[in-house]
Amino acid sequence: NAQLHFLAVAAGKEYFGTATDNPELSDSAYVTQLSNTTDFNQITPGNSMKWDATEPSRGIFTFSGGDAIAAQATKNGQLVRGHNCVWHNQLPAWVTNGNFDNATLTSIVQNHCSTLVAHYKGKIALVSWDVINEPFNDDGTFRTSVFFNTMGTSYIQVALNAARAADPGAKLYINDFNIEGTGAKSTAMLNLVKSLKSSGVPIDGVGIQAHLIVGQVPSTIQANLAQFATLGIEVAITELDIRMTLPSTAALLAQQRKDYQTVIAACKATKACVGVTVWDWTDKYSWIPGTFSGQGAACPWDENLVKKPAYDGIVAGF
Ligand code: XIL
Repeated sequence: NAQLHFLAVAAGKEYFGTATDNPELSDSAYVTQLSNTTDFNQITPGNSMKWDATEPSRGIFTFSGGDAIAAQATKNGQLVRGHNCVWHNQLPAWVTNGNFDNATLTSIVQNHCSTLVAHYKGKIALVSWDVINEPFNDDGTFRTSVFFNTMGTSYIQVALNAARAADPGAKLYINDFNIEGTGAKSTAMLNLVKSLKSSGVPIDGVGIQAHLIVGQVPSTIQANLAQFATLGIEVAITELDIRMTLPSTAALLAQQRKDYQTVIAACKATKACVGVTVWDWTDKYSWIPGTFSGQGAACPWDENLVKKPAYDGIVAGF
């Protein structure tokens, strides 16, 4: 009997989880499986803890969406991944267009991170916080954003220090995509973590999003996870989905099964890899078709909430 959470624990992991989002919580068939703790003992809010949702006007915090996800998790005894404090996307216009100077934006970032993290302190069974999301370009240079453009790289330490002060028990992560295999972006993340550690900035883990493409899982994924582990930090697969060009075929679904298995096996083989989260468990609510035109079928369950070969791939990987 395949049960993802139990298999993850048997493999020495803390959790197997899924992203979810507030609109989906009115779909009772969806919620039934979301609440199946034999598969998922962890959830991540897909949107409702982001900056636009939590501080839509300066200094005015709205936690209703995030609190609804927190309540859903608590009801089922599931862990929650906080997602996220500082990201270049889904920002309210007052941040993006505010033309703040360095000192002002520094205090805005500090206040946002500390208020957000403090709000959920003790309210959820926290697995960790994605404090910084997507700081790098694919070539390993720092991504330009209102934060980088105004504060340079200092926004990273400002956010991490604020999060640590707000909840000293929280594990603090930097999360990014296209760092699944070795390469320039992964090296940049390794170097960032090293430099933060040598300056005494709190950093506990690197989140590897793993928004992957069928047939293109990097062959270096396990070696790459091992490199992060040598830094003395955790890693987690935080947003796993493996998309294909539609329509899906039996051959694509079979390859996708293998690809899920490869990712899970790499986490299993890496002691420092604490858990895996899929970026929603069903194609019904996947973000992929809305973002990558003509692509989809990226999740382990199909649009009718039926398990796909990918589910068996996860089982096989553990
Ligand atoms: C996505 C959500 O799933 C979508 O609903 C939203 O429209 C855009 O953001 N990397 C991340 C996530 O860190 O926050 C993103 O989530 C997917 C890519």
